Amino acid sequence: MSAVGVGIIGVGVISDTYLANLSSFPDVEVLIVGDLLLDRAQAQAEKYGVPAFGSAEDVLAHPDVQLVVNLTIPAVHVEVSRAAIAAGKHVWTEKPLGLDREGAAELLREAAEAGLRVGSAPDTLLGPGFQAARRAIEDGRIGRPLFALTTFQTQGPDLWHPSPAFLFANGAGPLLDMGPYYFSALVSLLGPVDRVAAVGTKAREERQIHTGPNAGTTFPVEVPSTIQIVTAFESGQQAQSLLSFDSALERHGIVEIHGTEGTIVIPDPNQFTGRIAYVKPLGVIRDGMSFEQEWIEIEHADVQVGRGLGALDMVRAIAEGRPHVASGELGFHVLDILLSAQESAATGVTVVVESTVAPVPLLPESFDPFAATL
Ligand SMILES: NC(=O)c1ccc[n+]([C@@H]2O[C@H](COP(=O)([O-])OP(=O)(O)OC[C@H]3O[C@@H](n4cnc5c(N)ncnc54)[C@H](O)[C@@H]3O)[C@@H](O)[C@H]2O)c1
Repeated sequence: MSAVGVGIIGVGVISDTYLANLSSFPDVEVLIVGDLLLDRAQAQAEKYGVPAFGSAEDVLAHPDVQLVVNLTIPAVHVEVSRAAIAAGKHVWTEKPLGLDREGAAELLREAAEAGLRVGSAPDTLLGPGFQAARRAIEDGRIGRPLFALTTFQTQGPDLWHPSPAFLFANGAGPLLDMGPYYFSALVSLLGPVDRVAAVGTKAREERQIHTGPNAGTTFPVEVPSTIQIVTAFESGQQAQSLLSFDSALERHGIVEIHGTEGTIVIPDPNQFTGRIAYVKPLGVIRDGMSFEQEWIEIEHADVQVGRGLGALDMVRAIAEGRPHVASGELGFHVLDILLSAQESAATGVTVVVESTVAPVPLLPESFDPFAATL
């Protein structure tokens, strides 16, 4: 065998990262890029030495493309992924898998029928940071995990984004835009979710663009710009998660797992690496003893990898006949959790999450993105 042919559909902001990374992995070869905007596709093909460019249809018609990487906007994720499956290609899609359960379920059904695979971002789960943190927890560093706390709070992307309206519209907000990172990590660590309860709020009904040619104009806020979620996992563990575009205090990437024998902080689930450290309970405090706790660092390989790792894992998993890590089923369960949280915030009732997912596999420890293995 040799490198697996990949075609990319949608070459906007995030495509630079994907193209740079996928071009550096010997096991994949980007053969064509496609976009609604042909000049954009042409520019990216020339920049990264991709031999062909065109429309989405051109990507799907390319005979040597086996895996389509879908980097379009969330509103068309399912439509583009289903077209890839219909064309006989495996598909990796950016998050979220879709915006409603029906469309996403249909995609998974069609893929299963065709014997094709679906993978879904985030692939930060495959980063050396998250993998090492998960191994540390499974090795028992904090005993039995009991509960988790996650925090993502910022002033909002309208502070820096030149056209931020879509990030406050239906299908986005901090829940659907950032939630996939935090909940994919939690499900990978604690297993499937049973039920969620959430409350949400909007700081303002309208917000203002701060930068770019439209600075000063306002746009409506359609979804909660802050949401707080209490999650119960099937295994009895629980989590508390804050996702906010309304906080003056920038603090994000916080994931703490509290166990019977310690608490571990793990890397930002939107990054591929980062600090892993844990504290042990103090035990008995005697007169004169300090409450200061020692942070025990966990060193891990700091391989410079990023987005694209999920697609690479897919092509290798297909060749090796093993499940891939960031699966469509995981993407579906996470979408189901996020939509359930949205419904809970809207209705005030706890929502039972109907879907479940098999345990998320770890990457083989010998996984080296820069090796030629096929
Ligand atoms: N920008 C980021 O920092 C970032 C980070 C992580 C993940 N993502 C995710 O990546 C995806 C893309 O984000 P982006 O910021 O690159 O968006 P973008 O708007 O910059 O790019 C999307 C591209 O898709 C094209 N497109 C849309 N519909 C299409 C269709 N039907 N057929 C072909 N092309 C189509 C658009 O023309 C555009 O070039 C989103 O799902 C987003 O959540 C983005």
